[in-house]
Amino acid sequence: MSTKGWIILFTVGFLLEVSTAADPIQILNSSISVTSKSNPWVDMVADKVNDGRVGGADSCKCCAALERPAWVQLTLDKTYLVEKIIILGRPDIYRQQFDNITLLLGGQDQSLEGVAFTSVNTTVKTTILTSPREVYTVRVSGGELTTNTTRHMTICEVMMYRQADCLPGKYGVNCSKECHCRAGPCESVTGTCIPALCKDGWRGPACNETCNPGTFGTNCSSICHCYENVTCHHTDGTCPNNQCAAGWAHNNCSVACDYGHFGENCSSACHCYNGSSCHHVSGKCP
Ligand SMILES: *[C@@H]1O[C@H](CO)[C@@H](O)[C@H](O)[C@H]1NC(C)=O
Ligand SMILES: *[C@@H]1O[C@H](CO)[C@@H](O)[C@H](O)[C@H]1NC(C)=O
Ligand SMILES: *[C@@H]1O[C@H](CO)[C@@H](O)[C@H](O)[C@H]1NC(C)=O
Ligand SMILES: *[C@@H]1O[C@H](CO)[C@@H](O)[C@H](O)[C@H]1NC(C)=O
Ligand SMILES: *[C@@H]1O[C@H](CO)[C@@H](O)[C@H](O)[C@H]1NC(C)=O
Ligand SMILES: *[C@@H]1O[C@H](CO)[C@@H](O)[C@H](O)[C@H]1NC(C)=O
Ligand SMILES: *[C@@H]1O[C@H](CO)[C@@H](O)[C@H](O)[C@H]1NC(C)=O
Ligand SMILES: *[C@@H]1O[C@H](CO)[C@@H](O)[C@H](O)[C@H]1NC(C)=O
Ligand SMILES: *[C@@H]1O[C@H](CO)[C@@H](O)[C@H](O)[C@H]1NC(C)=O
Ligand SMILES: *[C@@H]1O[C@H](CO)[C@@H](O)[C@H](O)[C@H]1NC(C)=O
Ligand SMILES: *[C@@H]1O[C@H](CO)[C@@H](O)[C@H](O)[C@H]1NC(C)=O
Repeated sequence: MSTKGWIILFTVGFLLEVSTAADPIQILNSSISVTSKSNPWVDMVADKVNDGRVGGADSCKCCAALERPAWVQLTLDKTYLVEKIIILGRPDIYRQQFDNITLLLGGQDQSLEGVAFTSVNTTVKTTILTSPREVYTVRVSGGELTTNTTRHMTICEVMMYRQADCLPGKYGVNCSKECHCRAGPCESVTGTCIPALCKDGWRGPACNETCNPGTFGTNCSSICHCYENVTCHHTDGTCPNNQCAAGWAHNNCSVACDYGHFGENCSSACHCYNGSSCHHVSGKCP
């Protein structure tokens, strides 16, 4: 292949990469609440890991310093698909107060599991999750320092980033699952439709299951009557080859035979007393 060909190939590849992986979005600090274990150094309280302010520890007064061993936990207002966590330490001469910290991620079941940092320097520790992960709590834990020159764990900010919004009709890790809501989006983790109404032919909280056999349409509340009990199309109720069970008509086989008719294809006529109609399936007169 020519050089030009390779360049085009790489450019197309790059554009595809960019268009499929949108940048993660920072979770607002108002969606996060903070708890902690152990005592702060004067006013360097745990909440300061979530105050939206970054800078030098002494100059900004925006860091938390907790006596080791310590932990600070950030609890989200719901489960998010987290992609990146950035933890900032203090940038001044006391930066060893940022040493020996670990990161744990948890779900709503109170579980906690340690995850490694993907990049670390003296003031910033970052974890990038290549596969976005369902996270409800984030705990930063500071063990005792063997050097024992410092007794505090100082964290200036914990920033969390979630997976970018999926296109309408998608949810879940990498937006790989489908929901079929009537209107509006579905929740990014569970797929629950908001409002809770499905497109015709779909059911379940995430509207990701087709109607049960023999039912179709809005809320799966219509019943179809196909020939030999085969199931109809879950959306519009059409029966295979438009063949209905005896006594039923129209493509969706959910309409009874017209007055005075009954049976397969509604092709039989009945002649009841005083012109009344017969049963649309059996042809029985009243
Ligand atoms: C969130 O950050 C803003 C500054 O960006 C700050 O004023 C506010 O107090 C913070 N909220 C919480 C809950 O910490
Ligand atoms: C640490 O890494 C961050 C980015 O990850 C960079 O902005 C910062 O300058 C680095 N600091 C040091 C002291 O290397
Ligand atoms: C999500 O996509 C990333 C790369 O974009 C991939 O590494 C990861 O395995 C995917 N996760 C799942 C659960 O498919
Ligand atoms: C880090 O903390 C742990 C738990 O307190 C401790 O066992 C370990 O020795 C510490 N490591 C360093 C390098 O201080
Ligand atoms: C560190 O120092 C404190 C007080 O100065 C002391 O109580 C503690 O036992 C020391 N810890 C270690 C691991 O040496
Ligand atoms: C439907 O949604 C639920 C909840 O998100 C999920 O557990 C299930 O796997 C989904 N089913 C399909 C077929 O995608
Ligand atoms: C479907 O269900 C919703 C909520 O229960 C209801 O408001 C709506 O009227 C139903 N539609 C039909 C056609 O049954
Ligand atoms: C069709 O299915 C229904 C319910 O499953 C059953 O009661 C009926 O006997 C079936 N009819 C035929 C012709 O198979
Ligand atoms: C079934 O088809 C008939 C005739 O086309 C239509 O009037 C009716 O609304 C359909 N029923 C449902 C539940 O879609
Ligand atoms: C009903 O219609 C189908 C298809 O048009 C045909 O094959 C079948 O013989 C008809 N049945 C009766 C009893 O007319
Ligand atoms: C026959 O039908 C007509 C009109 O529906 C009604 O008025 C009349 O009483 C019926 N006669 C009998 C004998 O049922």
